[in-house]
Order: sequence, then structure tokens, then C-alpha cells
Amino acid sequence: VKVNRRQFIILTTASAVTASVASIALAQNNRNPFKSQALSPKIYKSADGLLKLDLEAGSHPISLGGKRAYLLGYNGQVPAPRLEAQAGDTVRIRFTNNLTQPTNLHYHGLHVTPTGNADNPFLEIPPGESLTYKFTIPKNHRSGTYWYHPHHHGYVAEQVFGGLAGLFIIRGELDEIAEIQAAKEEFLVLQDFALDRNGRIQSPNHMDMMMGREGELLTVNGQIKPTFSIASGGLLRLRFLNASPSRFYRLALENHPFYLVATDGGALAEPVEFKELLLAPGERAEMLVRGEREPKQYRLLNLPYNRGGMEMMEDEMGMMGDSSHMMGGKSQVNPQILATLTYQGFVSTLPLPKQLIPVETLPEPKTVRRLELSMEEEMAPGMGMSFTFNGKAFDPNKINTQVQVNTVEDWELVNVDLDRMDHPFHLHVNPFQVILRNGEPEPYRAWKDTVLVRGGETVRIRIPFRDFPGKTVYHCHVLDHEDLGMMGIVNIQA
Ligand code: C2O
Ligand code: CU
Repeated sequence: VKVNRRQFIILTTASAVTASVASIALAQNNRNPFKSQALSPKIYKSADGLLKLDLEAGSHPISLGGKRAYLLGYNGQVPAPRLEAQAGDTVRIRFTNNLTQPTNLHYHGLHVTPTGNADNPFLEIPPGESLTYKFTIPKNHRSGTYWYHPHHHGYVAEQVFGGLAGLFIIRGELDEIAEIQAAKEEFLVLQDFALDRNGRIQSPNHMDMMMGREGELLTVNGQIKPTFSIASGGLLRLRFLNASPSRFYRLALENHPFYLVATDGGALAEPVEFKELLLAPGERAEMLVRGEREPKQYRLLNLPYNRGGMEMMEDEMGMMGDSSHMMGGKSQVNPQILATLTYQGFVSTLPLPKQLIPVETLPEPKTVRRLELSMEEEMAPGMGMSFTFNGKAFDPNKINTQVQVNTVEDWELVNVDLDRMDHPFHLHVNPFQVILRNGEPEPYRAWKDTVLVRGGETVRIRIPFRDFPGKTVYHCHVLDHEDLGMMGIVNIQA
């Protein structure tokens, strides 16, 4: 069944819709069945300064926890193939859409042009069609953990929840630090899935979309509770990506500290010790973990977290009373085990790096803007909720924010959500630094492209709009919120 965008909006905003919106679920496409059953991401590295890849999005059966599941994959893989490139490389991706819906690709966190066949979220690739993406990564691009996923407005949550997400690694200066080089590197792509008895992706109900859909099945690299085994050395470099459309991960290693060395946009100036770390949807973090001399196991835990937004949802759904078993910290009262790290013990102690990469201080900006993030009750009764910036839902034909290329701006992100729901704010193309959170400076300086703005919080970010004029977007990375309107267009003028 084909449902157009307009019908989709009506379906998803009518508060009377409590039944699942099954009609928009992706139909299985059997024209191009995938042969590959591989779960671990295959790596594509750039050679001769060119990363060439034939990428196909399609549905495909995999084995998940011993059961058959029908997920969406790029080249048949969940998570998608890991791409690796270097600053200065030209990337060319021949992309084919074998879904039954339109789609496209977004290169989350990359500082590349938003125009043409590059990181352009306005491109639409209809079912059965192909497009060649081509862009050059600037020579001074920071190394780091970036990623790619679909970004066709109205379908983003559904397609990412199907499994469409992969790492896009830029190698460079952080990888060249001796201590980092000596560490064993592991990538951990966090995804959650909701499957029905037949292994099909469950369609969300109205409330799932309001809160942002979550699944009970937690996976790391497409596996349930995998074990990472470290044979030698004592230092482990864990590179996390939260590729879930709505789930927050409050990560901890059973009382064992870890050291944050990089965030979304690359390295910190020096490692910072943490006992736990919250990773909102879209965020990345790199941590160093020190092993011990004796063989030992650490469990990687996801601690309970409440991301707000319950009260109004209950009213909406007519579900009063205790809701601790439901959304928000959804069902989660106890820590969940994500993975196990097994150390075999080691002989010599590897030191932590003292210094990483300096993080530049940005100049004070002339322009300060205020952006209100909110979920509001629609004006007309019975219209349900809308998700907005400054009271306006996404309109593909309107520019919300005009900026000048090669200037720096401060944006004050104010979460005025009636229901005190958390919203992770993401800006394309131009990474930023968090300057103040509720008037307080952040404990360390870091490059980010996604920042959590909790219910009631005000977060000030400083953005250098560098190099690339053009139109791009900012939005909430709870992807259902984005699909339901919490997205704006920024036009970067030449
Ligand atoms: Cu990861 Cu515009 O998104
Ligand atoms: Cu949101």
C-alpha cells in the first residue's frame, strides 16, 4: 500500500489513531533478494584517494538471537558496511534503492558540501532507482567516528529502525597517537529492534511515534550480547555509535572507569575519566578502557534512563496510573547487558595518552539566535501533537534560518517542551561546540554535531559555518520527532 506524505501526516497526527499504522510498513521486496547473511560490518577503505562502493538498500532476512528477522540492510548487512576514508579523499558511492519507499543517504557529521550529489538531504531516490554520490572530504577534516543513514523526510525513523545505518570512519591524526595505535580497536554500533512473532519489524502505534519508537531487542553490531575478547595488550579503544532512532544508552562498565577520548566530531584535548556516559540517538563516543593483569570480564551495561515525556502521553492515550513499565525509561528498571568484554590478562601496562588533539577556541560571535524546541498540542482540537522549532513544523519550501558562510554564530537551544521530553539536536555539515548548559560551561571542550537538550534545559552552542554555502537542515535526532516536523532549514549564503 502506498501512502503519500500528506496521508502519512494525517495518520500520524490524528490523536484518535491508536491502532498500528500498518499500511506504511515496508513491504518485503523480493526482486533483489540478498545473498549475504553477514552480520559483522564489512569494511570498505579508500584506495588511491577514492572510496568506491556499490550500495544497495533492501530488505533481507538475518538470524537474530537464533530467530529469523527481516530487517533492512545496505548490501545485505546490519549494521551496514563500515566505510573508511581519509581527509582529502574523494568518495564515490553508487547507490541503489531496492526498498519500496523513497530514500537517500545522509553522511552524519561529515563536513562536506550539502549541495548536489553530496550530503544533500533534499535528494529523493525513488524505489528501484540509483544515484551516484560524489564528494571530497576537505584536507583538514578531523578524524573521527561518523556515520550514514537514510534521510528522506517522513521515512527516516522507519528506515533507520529497520536497520539502515553504518559507520563512516575518517582516519587521521587521532589514529596516529602512539598510545591509541597500541590500543585494540573495536566498533560498537548500537541498534534496537521491535520484531513480531514472524520476525517482521513491528509497526509503531501513535504513542510509539510521539515518544519515538523503541524495540526490546538490543543489539551491538547486529548481535545480541556479543563478547569482545582482548587477547593481548591492556588498552581497549571502544568506538560507539548510537544508531537507534530513539533509544538512549546510559553506558557503564560495571564500576570500571573508562576514558573519553573523542566525541561526535573527533578527539578531545585529553582523556576525561567517566563512570558512565549517556549516548543520545545519533551521538558517538570513543572510550579507552584499561584492562587488568589478571584475566577478567566486564559487562557493558545500559543503565535505566528516563527521557521524559510521559505525562501528556498518558493523557493522550487515556492511560493513567503507573507507567514505569512503559515508555521513557521504557520497561527499564534494571541495567541491561549489552555486551561482555573478556580480558585474557596481560604482562605489560600500556599507558593512557596524556595529550590528544587540541580543540580550537572559537571566536565570540556577533549573532546569537534562539531556537525553541517543543512538542505542542495542535491548535485545532483532535489534531494531536506537533513537533516544532520556534513553533513551526518542517516545511520543505521554507527557509527557517539564514546565515552567512564563514561566520560564527551562537545558537541558544531552549527546550520548552510541555511534557519535558528530551530532544537531541543535530545540525548537518557544520560541527559545533557546546558553550553553556543552563548557564554553566561544559567540563571539557569538544566537537559535536548532536547535543542533548533535556526537558527544560537551555544549551548554547557555537557554530562556525565554514567552507560550504547551501541549504541544509537541523532537527531532533529522535527520528520520529524529525519525521513529525521537528526539523528546520538553514540556508548558508555565499
Ligand atoms: Cu543523523 Cu539529519 O541526521
Ligand atoms: Cu525530539
